[in-house]
Amino acid sequence: MWGFVVYLSLLVVCGSIGCPCDSPELCQQITQQRDFEVFVFDVGGKTWKSYNWSMVTTVATFGKYDAELMCYAHSQGARVVLKGDVPLSYIVDPDNRTAWITDKVNLAKSQFMDGINIDIEQAVENGSLEYYALTALVKETTEAFHREIPGSQVSFDVAWSPKCIDKRCYDYVAIAESCDLLFVMSYDEQSQIMDDCIAMANAPLAQTLEAYDQYLDMKINPKKIVMGVPWYGYDYPCLNFSQEGVCSVAKVPFRGAPCSDAAGKQKTYKWLMQQVDSSFSGRLWDEKQQAPYFNYKDQSGQIHQVWYDDPQSICPKADAVKAKGLRGIGMWNGNILDYSDEPVARQQTAMMWNALLGC
Ligand SMILES: *[C@@H]1O[C@H](CO)[C@@H](O)[C@H](O)[C@H]1NC(C)=O
Ligand SMILES: *[C@@H]1O[C@H](CO)[C@@H](O)[C@H](O)[C@H]1NC(C)=O
Ligand SMILES: *[C@@H]1O[C@H](CO)[C@@H](O)[C@H](O)[C@H]1NC(C)=O
Ligand SMILES: *[C@@H]1O[C@H](CO)[C@@H](O)[C@H](O)[C@H]1NC(C)=O
Repeated sequence: MWGFVVYLSLLVVCGSIGCPCDSPELCQQITQQRDFEVFVFDVGGKTWKSYNWSMVTTVATFGKYDAELMCYAHSQGARVVLKGDVPLSYIVDPDNRTAWITDKVNLAKSQFMDGINIDIEQAVENGSLEYYALTALVKETTEAFHREIPGSQVSFDVAWSPKCIDKRCYDYVAIAESCDLLFVMSYDEQSQIMDDCIAMANAPLAQTLEAYDQYLDMKINPKKIVMGVPWYGYDYPCLNFSQEGVCSVAKVPFRGAPCSDAAGKQKTYKWLMQQVDSSFSGRLWDEKQQAPYFNYKDQSGQIHQVWYDDPQSICPKADAVKAKGLRGIGMWNGNILDYSDEPVARQQTAMMWNALLGC
């Protein structure tokens, strides 16, 4: 009887109760930092089984909890981190903030997670209550995670530029100082189109790289910055398609801009690679934006223009990660390549993963 109680307490102490992995060691949190981060957002399903795990360092789980993914990532020395999102109006109140953080730390512990990725993309006015509450949230979350789960990682997702993109005027410097790394979402760069309302690249090269210089000019440590690249593109129905191939799109306003990429639909790389083959243009390359695109006609006869990223457009971005001495690279999202056994798909998928490491 007492033996059994002692045995139970030992299990509790060792944390192996509730460990869903084949071996209890796989529930131990990953604590070491790797020099180069490859940060993957996983939105659910089982395609993670086909990731190139020799590269992956962190998986942010935005789908529902998958114990099998946690065990497998740990077996590969990769971290698995929670998603954190909360309406900022709730956490202006310090007690509510603490309650949210405690809840996340307990969830991370019970699921054997190695940190949290805070993904708050709300509009915030400079100097507002939410502005200060957001910074405090990041700081207090990092303190709590580091204290309660030693070696854990707290990251925060930021817009492609710190210049109040989408009205997100955050205290980027203080946020960067208060967490382990910033994941810069270098995509959706047409979310606020002020000039001609036309289809353009999701992440034009020059604009993407200039924005990293903006972050670095604020004296944010490059080793805290992970570059995010898109593995998806935008499909725009053209209201008018000029002889020069310019596709004008519907005016869909977004956060103060008259026109935005919300006129298009986000499409997975898997879809893009199938659709480009049935397009009337085939794959085209825009020299100015350094991005691929194509044009196709739908069943009703309407022309669409599709902009995306592929190894050729991702490669110079990945090279810039090294040149600027950033912490690493990642993508939105890991699941949207074609992971089937079809030979062409296999090749395309391997090339997308390899492009993360540069040309
Ligand atoms: C505290 O958070 C809850 C949700 O968890 C929210 O409903 C409530 O309004 C918040 N309270 C304050 C004072 O912000
Ligand atoms: C917020 O305002 C301060 C002081 O006016 C300014 O230094 C800072 O750059 C502003 N931040 C953003 C994100 O616009
Ligand atoms: C629409 O496209 C046609 C054909 O390319 C062009 O002649 C015309 O100027 C365009 N109209 C507008 C409003 O852009
Ligand atoms: C996975 O990535 C490594 C580089 O870390 C590379 O050498 C290897 O070829 C990749 N595997 C596949 C199947 O492409």
